[in-house]
Amino acid sequence: MQRSPDIARFLKTTSLTLALLFGFGAAGPAGAAGDEDTADEPQYSRGVKQCMACHKEGREKPAHEVFFTTMGITGDPSSPFAEGNHDCEACHGPSAHHIRKQKDGTRLPPTVTFSDKEPVETQNAACMSCHTDAGRFHWPGSTHDLEAVACVDCHDVHAANDPILALETQPEVCYQCHQEQRAQFLRQSRHPVQGSTASLSQVGLLGCTDCHQPHGGPGPANLIRNTINEQCYDCHAEKRGPFLWEHAPVQEDCSNCHVPHGSNYENLLVARQPYLCQQCHLGNFHVSAVYSGSGLPPEGRDQRMLGKQCMNCHVQVHGSNHPGGISQTR
Ligand code: HEC
Ligand code: HEC
Ligand code: HEC
Ligand code: HEC
Ligand code: HEC
Ligand code: HEC
Ligand code: HEC
Ligand code: HEC
Ligand code: HEC
Ligand code: HEC
Repeated sequence: MQRSPDIARFLKTTSLTLALLFGFGAAGPAGAAGDEDTADEPQYSRGVKQCMACHKEGREKPAHEVFFTTMGITGDPSSPFAEGNHDCEACHGPSAHHIRKQKDGTRLPPTVTFSDKEPVETQNAACMSCHTDAGRFHWPGSTHDLEAVACVDCHDVHAANDPILALETQPEVCYQCHQEQRAQFLRQSRHPVQGSTASLSQVGLLGCTDCHQPHGGPGPANLIRNTINEQCYDCHAEKRGPFLWEHAPVQEDCSNCHVPHGSNYENLLVARQPYLCQQCHLGNFHVSAVYSGSGLPPEGRDQRMLGKQCMNCHVQVHGSNHPGGISQTR
């Protein structure tokens, strides 16, 4: 343990000498020795045992919880802590220089500390050295990538339970940046996402990731599916049809009438009836009649203004399979 800084310094000086001796010449013909110009670059320490001597449980900056995550399963050959993957320094970069204080009593930080001041590319490169699997297929060029969101803006890799991986705690992480969506999920009609209601029966039924792929997806708005409708069919399959009598706007896009997060109109609708229907429907008689408060009690009892309004009769607004259901009345 005590000898380690010496080894680090030794490594540093030897590679410096090597670079001076062979660095420029060797890079040319073979190319194999091209790595020699890394002389000034930081070196790896002797690994996790050295780091944990100072960062164990109870110390100023404990780091032990990383061993409770799936990344701490050392038997997995791609784990940071597996043989040859440089342990802590798989993420923090070669950091032998950090282990011993300098002459002036200060301590140089590790190569990568994931602080706000570090370029996001540097931070994400540390993670993407391992996580280029299917889960990150859409990451390059995704909205979050282009907006320079770091992996660790969402992920707390040192925590035994990364909050963003659990439905109950995930929305709160997203709301840090998406305040508007927090407000939407507080409206009276909303998908049952955690934080959206005091009613325990709805707590954490859905997470943002039931619809979104935060690493980027094929559809609009980082959706998991290609289109909004396909996304909705995941859970509301009965709305897919096929129907004998389709209602055109339903097949086209659910968001013609619904908002995905929350609305102050019941059933997540974009507008209240009868105006919802009258946005598109003009015609004789009741279809585009001007309805007003006079249709409401005590003066009036207009079927088109009470209860489900237009839906009192047009009950199959998503489409009908009844032979006589052309007007969605059955
Ligand atoms: C001899 C004790 C010691 C050893 C060994 C040590 N550290 Fe540290 N480390 C500290 C102290 C003390 C701090 C608090 C910040 C400071 O004093 O500069 C710290 C801070 C850090 C930080 C936070 C830096 C920042 O600026 O936010 C990281 C990350 C870190 N260490 C990683 C490591 C890694 C990885 C290793 C193994 C390669 C390691 N440490 C080995 C003592 C040590
Ligand atoms: C999977 C990547 C990864 C591994 C492996 C990893 N770290 Fe970290 N570490 C981070 C990130 C990212 C941060 C920044 C804090 C955050 O956002 O979670 C961090 C922060 C730290 C800090 C600062 C914590 C604080 O309270 O400010 C210390 C100290 C640290 N790591 C030490 C270690 C040690 C020691 C190891 C090995 C046992 C290690 N890390 C392994 C990614 C990693
Ligand atoms: C040395 C390779 C390596 C590096 C570097 C690395 N990881 Fe991992 N990570 C793994 C392995 C192996 C697993 C466990 C298997 C899996 O889930 O893919 C894992 C799992 C995860 C998981 C899933 C945790 C769970 O409980 O399901 C997250 C999230 C994660 N890593 C994020 C990160 C982030 C963020 C970084 C950068 C700060 C990072 N990783 C750096 C190898 C690595
Ligand atoms: C906008 C927030 C966000 C960002 C940024 C983000 N992630 Fe994730 N990540 C998540 C969420 C949420 C999950 C859980 C996904 C689920 O449950 O379907 C997750 C899951 C994971 C997993 C485990 C499941 C899997 O897909 O393999 C890994 C590994 C991972 N992320 C790595 C990364 C890496 C590497 C980066 C940076 C390139 C990154 N993440 C950036 C939110 C994010
Ligand atoms: C560190 C900040 C940050 C966090 C945390 C974050 N996002 Fe984002 N997200 C952004 C930024 C910036 C944009 C682009 C501007 C916008 O649309 O608000 C964005 C855009 C989006 C978009 C729109 C994508 C598009 O192409 O239209 C979705 C969907 C999204 N984020 C979902 C999530 C989810 C789900 C989470 C949590 C798992 C999350 N975000 C966490 C910063 C963040
Ligand atoms: C039931 C599915 C669903 C859930 C759950 C969901 N979203 Fe969305 N979200 C959508 C759809 C669909 C859109 C696209 C809306 C459009 O383009 O008309 C969207 C759009 C977005 C956008 C882009 C801006 C906007 O409003 O158009 C952001 C940001 C976003 N969602 C964040 C979140 C966050 C954060 C959560 C979790 C708290 C979440 N979403 C949960 C379906 C969902
Ligand atoms: C991951 C599953 C899931 C997806 C995807 C999904 N929903 Fe839902 N939806 C639910 C759940 C769960 C409820 C609540 C049911 C309840 O309260 O009984 C719900 C309720 C609704 C309601 C009734 C709301 C109310 O106030 O009673 C509407 C309307 C709705 N969803 C429309 C949509 C639309 C449009 C989409 C596509 C953007 C969509 N859903 C995607 C699961 C989902
Ligand atoms: C033409 C407008 C319109 C379109 C487009 C539309 N809906 Fe609806 N939806 C409504 C109305 C109106 C209600 C209220 C029904 C009621 O009060 O009985 C409703 C209610 C719902 C409900 C809750 C009640 C139920 O029937 O389960 C769900 C879920 C739903 N819609 C899903 C969808 C999905 C998924 C799509 C896209 C495939 C879609 N809607 C497209 C108008 C529409
Ligand atoms: C986004 C526009 C849009 C909205 C909103 C909308 N519709 Fe439609 N509706 C259409 C279109 C387009 C057709 C197909 C017209 C055609 O084939 O001539 C249609 C057809 C119909 C038909 C069958 C008409 C016929 O020819 O017999 C009825 C009934 C109907 N809609 C009722 C409703 C009701 C009730 C609502 C409110 C819940 C509603 N629509 C909301 C666009 C809309
Ligand atoms: C009391 C029952 C009832 C109510 C309430 C009602 N309708 Fe109708 N609607 C009908 C009947 C019946 C037809 C004709 C059906 C047929 O001929 O098969 C019809 C036909 C229609 C048609 C097709 C008209 C055409 O010109 O072909 C549309 C569009 C329509 N209604 C929209 C609406 C809208 C919008 C509302 C709400 C303002 C509404 N309806 C409320 C019973 C109702």
